[in-house]
Amino acid sequence: MDLNGYLESAREEILAQMRQRVPSAGTAPESLHQAMNHALFAGGKRLRPLLVLEACQLAGGNRSLAYDAAAAIECLHTFTLIHDDLPCMDDDDTRRGVPTCHVVYGEDIALLAGDALMFTGMELLTRRDSRLDPSVQLENALAVARALGSRGVIAGQVLDLESEGRDPDPELLREIHRHKTGALLEVSLEIGARAGGAEPELMNRLKAYGRHFGLAFQITDDILDVTGDSARMGKATGRDAGLHKMTYPALYGLEESRQLARQEIRLALEALEGLQGDNLWVFRTLAESLLERTV
Ligand code: IPE
Ligand code: IPE
Ligand code: MG
Ligand code: MG
Ligand code: MG
Repeated sequence: MDLNGYLESAREEILAQMRQRVPSAGTAPESLHQAMNHALFAGGKRLRPLLVLEACQLAGGNRSLAYDAAAAIECLHTFTLIHDDLPCMDDDDTRRGVPTCHVVYGEDIALLAGDALMFTGMELLTRRDSRLDPSVQLENALAVARALGSRGVIAGQVLDLESEGRDPDPELLREIHRHKTGALLEVSLEIGARAGGAEPELMNRLKAYGRHFGLAFQITDDILDVTGDSARMGKATGRDAGLHKMTYPALYGLEESRQLARQEIRLALEALEGLQGDNLWVFRTLAESLLERTV
């Protein structure tokens, strides 16, 4: 099957589930819910919720078992984007093809919209009326809290900010990327797999896939900040150099960065070896096409 066509229909599936689970823009207080909806329902690849659903299916579960988890992960991802774009962080004006949340709603409401999306995500992971066993929900909520917390994504964001203008350090750069981006991708696979009832072996393989995929994904994000088309990507380019960020192209140049991404993609594909499932091709094709991505 063609990946793009598949991704398009999966995006529709995910959006419909998100809309059912997130308070609409008309909910009081309206400024807050408008800001949340603005950030959430602008363009976006919906890659992380897709990985949640695919992992659930690969583990033998019906995708619908993971709809809450998928919506939760996209809320949490969007919270990190709203905060990442704030003037005190990367100070970006465009995201997902529209003005950033703080540009439209002000910094105060944007900050709170990010906070609220974080809690919406945690609420969706711990719903009382879930079809998942409470022990599965608890494990998933714990994994997500850890992945995003002070030793996960937020650690990565702190290191990212503190490394601006600093001497390049390959070890630190890898740590930044594994935390700020890899942790959320890895946990997306973990919670989807758990919702689908995965055995430990499959869970570990999918987590390894997520780790390598995540690093490759952030390397290509760094590359696209240099080579990409801002209109296509829906966000500004050239920002990393402007902010003196520690990135793969800054440290290694474009060609070597592509090589390093290729290495991670190879490791991601290796993690899938020997696995079986009618949607295994989605994981493979997503990884194989990472270096060709333009958005
Ligand atoms: C952007 O993530 C932040 C990074 C980790 C690079 P995406 O490139 O997945 O952004 P959306 O969700 O498609 O907007
Ligand atoms: C984003 O890294 C990581 C998180 C949002 C957690 P970037 O700062 O490189 O992402 P973009 O380029 O703004 O999307
Ligand atoms: Mg950033
Ligand atoms: Mg940024
Ligand atoms: Mg970037």
